[in-house]
Amino acid sequence: MAKKTGAFKAGTFVVFEGGDESGKTTHARWVATQRNCLFTYEPCADLNLRSLLLGTSNSDLSDRTEALLFAADRAQHVQNIIRPTLELGQDVVCDRYIGSSLAYQSYGRGLNLKEVFRLSEFATDGLLPDLVLLMHIPYETYLERLQASQLDLTRFDQETADFHRRVIDGYLKLAEADPSRWVVIDGTLPPDTVRQAVAAVLEEKLGWQL
Ligand code: TYD
Repeated sequence: MAKKTGAFKAGTFVVFEGGDESGKTTHARWVATQRNCLFTYEPCADLNLRSLLLGTSNSDLSDRTEALLFAADRAQHVQNIIRPTLELGQDVVCDRYIGSSLAYQSYGRGLNLKEVFRLSEFATDGLLPDLVLLMHIPYETYLERLQASQLDLTRFDQETADFHRRVIDGYLKLAEADPSRWVVIDGTLPPDTVRQAVAAVLEEKLGWQL
């Protein structure tokens, strides 16, 4: 059960993290469907901040503004969607959470790691995930997949190679620092193999049979 300072939490909270194009959304959705539980994502739909945070026209957003907006989005997401669902005893699978702020706003942008963590701690009232699956792909794979992708570019896709490398390395450091909560999965493997690896981790760690 995750550490919490708020109300009683009964469901299990699983988060998928990873750099862009790592495939985490596909696998997170698959897990939620198999488990018949809530799939949700950040930045969430609740506050309508997605276009502000991801749109390419907001290139002058300051790093601190960006960190605060992601934290505000998370506060709303936890209060209105994640915590109420967990309290009903239902499991939640979330695409990105606190790890994204640590990887992108701290390792990527260079903001202080503890300060960025405290911001999310405040935003979520201390709600941590039970398990984080990190889909790891190197920068070169990200670039290949981005070039093949039909999706619109985000502000983050326009970042430098160095920025993306810092994010990817940052994620590995986060996983290394908290091995009881984080598991790294090789996202370069074929989708079926990744899916089997995800299912094996969820069975071993949580007893989920997908
Ligand atoms: P999105 O289009 O949802 O991509 P993905 O499918 O990869 O999640 O874009 C989310 C972007 O927002 C992604 O580039 C990472 C960034 N982000 C942060 O920088 N900090 C955060 O706290 C969160 C939740 C996302």
